[in-house]
Amino acid sequence: MDKQVRPGITLDYTGMMYGSQNQKGFAEEEVAGLQNLLDQAQATLVTRRETGEIDFSRLLESMKLQLSELTEYANAVAPKFENFVVLGIGGSALGPAAVHQALNHYYYNDLSPVQRGHRPRFYVLDNIDPVRVNELLQMLEPSKTLFNVISKSGNTSETMAQFLIIRDILRRVCGDSHAEHIVITTDKEKGNLLPIALKEGYKRFVIPAGVGGRFSELTPVGLLAAAICGIDIDQLLEGALEMDRWIRDSKGVASNPAQLRAALAHLSWQKGKNISVFMPYADGLKTMADWYAQLWAESLGKGYDRQGGVVHVGQTPVKALGVTDQHSQVQLYAEGPDDKVITFVAVEKFKESRGIPIDPELPEDIQFLGGRTLEELLFAEQKATEYALTLAGRQHQKIILPALDAYNVGQLLLLLEWETAYMGELLNINAFDQPGVEEGKNGTYALMGRKGYEAKKEAIEDYGKTRFILG
Ligand code: PA5
Repeated sequence: MDKQVRPGITLDYTGMMYGSQNQKGFAEEEVAGLQNLLDQAQATLVTRRETGEIDFSRLLESMKLQLSELTEYANAVAPKFENFVVLGIGGSALGPAAVHQALNHYYYNDLSPVQRGHRPRFYVLDNIDPVRVNELLQMLEPSKTLFNVISKSGNTSETMAQFLIIRDILRRVCGDSHAEHIVITTDKEKGNLLPIALKEGYKRFVIPAGVGGRFSELTPVGLLAAAICGIDIDQLLEGALEMDRWIRDSKGVASNPAQLRAALAHLSWQKGKNISVFMPYADGLKTMADWYAQLWAESLGKGYDRQGGVVHVGQTPVKALGVTDQHSQVQLYAEGPDDKVITFVAVEKFKESRGIPIDPELPEDIQFLGGRTLEELLFAEQKATEYALTLAGRQHQKIILPALDAYNVGQLLLLLEWETAYMGELLNINAFDQPGVEEGKNGTYALMGRKGYEAKKEAIEDYGKTRFILG
């Protein structure tokens, strides 16, 4: 297959392919054999993109045009607040959290205001556990905090509940100026958040219509938080745009990174690999693994195909972190059921280096570490793990980022989004809906007494009559 020579991300998929040490790998013809299906997938995705039905790629240009509005607002509010809190869940929380962790100081919130460039501390409240909510509120002074309520639908119970609590506190503490502490990110026309925002005069940013939560990081959902906390959102979008062009301009699986990764995922799925492990070797990408897990799970775990046939497809995503999980999960990957395909994510050049001191007095068996660096040790461990998995006959591949910076993170996001879209087409399912979570949402409305859900409440209570309980 062609070697890609481009700025930014490269893919090393040797560990997926047949070779002298890899008898179980795929032949190049097997990958190329998916080309017809991939061409059909491309045609469908291009049409859906042009009609605005799926907008995660098309929106990049329009986001570029909104950069100055986002940046101006971000620069105006950043020095005014000590804390910036995202209220959101799922796709409205994981992207902002992942990009922040990837690109800002690992202990950003513990830095002094000067070290943070007079930008606020950053929190993402993506759950409704009352202990966590209360403990966060005990820590933050509402009058020094800006809350960003993010909800595409404007209806999500968890986010709305958080919003009502915060609004009540802010009204009491800040009175008439409470609106200055709330910024809303939601749909342009739909949902319950919009009329409240308009009535109260909250600052508002729009999530474009054709973008689902898990594909929305490069909209104001993620860009606003990133800009407020000092991330170069221009470079984030530049990287995403470059990856988008690469994917859309490439003809064929051998040169198109999203087609290639989707093809390998599909072949592995057909061979019984039900689990897709995402294992970055950089702590900054730990939350990116959460973001990927949602993208892969919610997009591809589907019960019905496009024609309504029952299929029950989807690989289960597993989050891991190198090297930490070498001491936790890799034993299973090497010797457990051969049902996993592993994606390592490697960073070629870390922004920091740390040497390991030499001490001739040390026992000989640990002297080899002296004079080397932590990153050398980390690279060696990653390579050794690849080798060990290859010897064990386990399939793996690698996404390589030259550096963990805004440009490459933008590329990574787009690559994984396009790969997911292609995989959805290969599986003949709709990767952009999530019908399986609706029943649970409706049940919650019913149990919480929302009007119009009385029959559902009765059904749930009836179902709950027979219990098997111990203790
Ligand atoms: O990817 C998705 O569509 C979901 O995970 C949503 O992001 C999540 O349910 C939150 O929805 P909303 O942004 O409408 O509050």
